[in-house]
Amino acid sequence: MADLSTTVAGVVLPRPALLASGIWGESGASLAAAFRAGAGGVVTKSIGVKPREGYPNPTIEQFGEWGMLNAMGLPNPGIEEYPKEIGQALAAGARVVGSIFGGDADEFAALARKMEATGVHALELNLSCPHAKGYGSEIGQDPQVLAEVVKAVKKATTLPVWAKVTPNTQDTALLAEAAEKAGADAITAINTVRALAIDPVLRRPVLAHGFGGLSGPAIRPIGLACVWKIYERVRIPIVGVGGITTAQDAYEYILAGARALELGTAVATKGINVFREVHEGLGRLLDEAHFATIEEAVGQAHRK
Ligand SMILES: Cc1cc2nc3c(=O)[nH]c(=O)nc-3n(C[C@H](O)[C@H](O)[C@H](O)COP(=O)(O)O)c2cc1C
Repeated sequence: MADLSTTVAGVVLPRPALLASGIWGESGASLAAAFRAGAGGVVTKSIGVKPREGYPNPTIEQFGEWGMLNAMGLPNPGIEEYPKEIGQALAAGARVVGSIFGGDADEFAALARKMEATGVHALELNLSCPHAKGYGSEIGQDPQVLAEVVKAVKKATTLPVWAKVTPNTQDTALLAEAAEKAGADAITAINTVRALAIDPVLRRPVLAHGFGGLSGPAIRPIGLACVWKIYERVRIPIVGVGGITTAQDAYEYILAGARALELGTAVATKGINVFREVHEGLGRLLDEAHFATIEEAVGQAHRK
């Protein structure tokens, strides 16, 4: 069977599909469980400087099979509290990527230092959450501000830095280019797509916050298009995320240019055994196409 291991900016992953940030990763026990269930690594939920409660309910709306709308509001226990959870995931042998979000470059740099001290293998910068005022895509939509954040984090830490970019912009690849120039070691694409659901009976938005972020199968073609464009314009590795639910979805992202993958909504809808299912199926698809490694298949849909 094809070798499923892959390397993203020096981080060796035994398998390519990781747990995405914000789903299932509340506790060290759940991060460790995802790894034991076959995830190639785990990304923590995004952690900020202070504890945050997030938005009031309802925060999630499920659209049948095709997607999920959420506006959680980045609830998290804060960087002083969360590290003990990371310790549990590391003790289980998981490759752990620490996700952080801040309001400016200084805050990101301070968080990066504290996250590095926990022993994580890489950092993922949440420059892309579409529904948190003053954070996420409000910062990450501006290539100049995004570059300042990446530079500040690179100065503050020796860890590989993955910049997670937003699809809610004219040109996601421009953001990826700005991140690469500023020293990012990898690009994670994409975060959720800004969207809205209306309750016709109550005649108001379904989510308490109004707008939310769409995830799941509905956004897979958007994620694929972003990965495709980014692959054409940057040389650093791409971690593909957005609607991956089956082995074939994962394979399509690899062919578009992703070297590793993250699964979020599929873990919520199918459970953590989805990692095993995706990896087994991906192995078969690579074998059928005569690829001996993931590396050989990366970006193959671009060949002329
Ligand atoms: C409930 C929920 C919470 C999320 N929280 C975060 C988060 O804290 N940080 C982050 O970078 N992305 C967060 N995301 C975005 C996911 O990591 C992922 O980028 C997105 O959902 C697309 O992938 P998917 O279709 O596989 O879910 C969240 C998504 C969902 C559905």
